[in-house]
Amino acid sequence: MKAVVFAAALALASSALAATPAQWRGRSIYQVLADRFARADGSTTATCNTGDRVYCGGTYQGIIKQLDYIQGMGFSAVWISPVTYNLPQTTVYGQAYHGYWQQDLHRLNPNFGTRQTSKPCPLRCTRVECIVIEYLMVDIVVNHFGWDGSSSSVNYSSLSPFNDQKYYHTFCNVDYSNQDSIEDCWLGDSNVELPDLKTEDTTVAKMYNNWINSLVSSYNIDGLRIDTAKHVDKAFWAGFEADAGVFMTGEVFSGDPTYVCPYQTYLDSVLNYPLYYAATSAFQSTSGNMPALANMISTMKSTCKDTTLLGSFTENHDVARFGQLNGDLSAAQNVLALTLLADGIPIVYAGQEQHYQSFGGSGDPYNREATWYSSYSTTAPLYTLTAKLNALRDWAVKADAGYATYRNSAIYSDTTTVAMRKGNAGKQVVTVLSNKGSAGASYAQTIGNTGFAANAQVVEVLTCATVTADGSGAVAVPMASGLPRVYYPKVALAGSKICGL
Ligand SMILES: *[C@@H]1O[C@H](CO)[C@@H](O)[C@H](O)[C@H]1NC(C)=O
Repeated sequence: MKAVVFAAALALASSALAATPAQWRGRSIYQVLADRFARADGSTTATCNTGDRVYCGGTYQGIIKQLDYIQGMGFSAVWISPVTYNLPQTTVYGQAYHGYWQQDLHRLNPNFGTRQTSKPCPLRCTRVECIVIEYLMVDIVVNHFGWDGSSSSVNYSSLSPFNDQKYYHTFCNVDYSNQDSIEDCWLGDSNVELPDLKTEDTTVAKMYNNWINSLVSSYNIDGLRIDTAKHVDKAFWAGFEADAGVFMTGEVFSGDPTYVCPYQTYLDSVLNYPLYYAATSAFQSTSGNMPALANMISTMKSTCKDTTLLGSFTENHDVARFGQLNGDLSAAQNVLALTLLADGIPIVYAGQEQHYQSFGGSGDPYNREATWYSSYSTTAPLYTLTAKLNALRDWAVKADAGYATYRNSAIYSDTTTVAMRKGNAGKQVVTVLSNKGSAGASYAQTIGNTGFAANAQVVEVLTCATVTADGSGAVAVPMASGLPRVYYPKVALAGSKICGL
């Protein structure tokens, strides 16, 4: 019941304000697929074979029951998969449990919760009922609808509100070498087609803008994650974002900063896919490219309008679990430390904190394991690590109004180690990452350019060991077992309860 009290207090403070990009900057997000996170009956044994690609029974009421689990890791926001009504058939690729095959914008997917008079809202109508977390982010799809069958078989009158072929682009398959084709042609294939909306059409845009305005206010939504954003006409976003009135982060699935960053001209934020690729590659093995990770931190900073608004992640429902790429627990700890302490708004995908490893295959659909199989263990090593990292980040955000907007810099790199600094002098976090893995030998690495004061005492917040910087602020970091180290000035931790201070 901690969750309810917390949110009720918050409602008094900020109920009238829609969440802005500036407010999101200091949050951290836990990502769930509504079907896979939690069941309303609390069952942790219900079968969910990811390879079957069918509904497994997770619901919004299930999420509500596990809010303490989410907040116990320090997350202040939840991102839930799309809520709209999806195609009801079992297709060649299974059922629409993920939510990306919508057919009616104004109806909810009844598998996750229905709008009833006694309990008016399955998501969040008020701050004291339903999904009660500080910030609620909902995944939306603007690019396409879903159809069980080929392009020639689409019954447009069964789709709503875009119930006529005139609202859609003429069918063509996407040619990824051509941006017009990426925006105008159809995703999917002849088994499950994704009819592509004419978002450059003013009528379509107006219908979408009205819808998002009503969705956001009906469900008290604080932010939106936009699926397949690179497949939508760029000029569409300005009006849509204005009518939504809340923060948006877009999926621009590409590792190329020069492709991804320009989208920040059209949207507040995009997911940091370039950093995701550099990070997973650096920690994938003991020979991963650490200098390339350091370079990517710098490149994103110089290429993007504002890296502090990007969504930082190292797992999601579309990519392989990191634990599947490399099962080493120390490597997974480094990846989480990077996710939580890099620039931007951290996003942890449900199951990452339980070191899920996608049994049966890599990526979709195997990376969509039921979180309930973990029994929501709050003693799992990555769960407790996430809690510590979120607590430090929260403290840093509260201790210094300039922390969240400070641009992280890579201050050191070699073939096994990357160090980075985020935050103004005296309130900065210095994170030292290693790809040596849990079998890695101990070594001492001196890290300069920390900005720490001469001879300052700094606390390694994961072990609570205190070390003293030298006369130039450099720290001799005792690396061991491939574990990450995270430093913060000791005097600035007073009152934080971190490491008992
Ligand atoms: C197309 O959809 C409409 C609306 O749901 C329905 O009434 C009609 O029977 C469908 N047409 C065909 C050919 O299935």
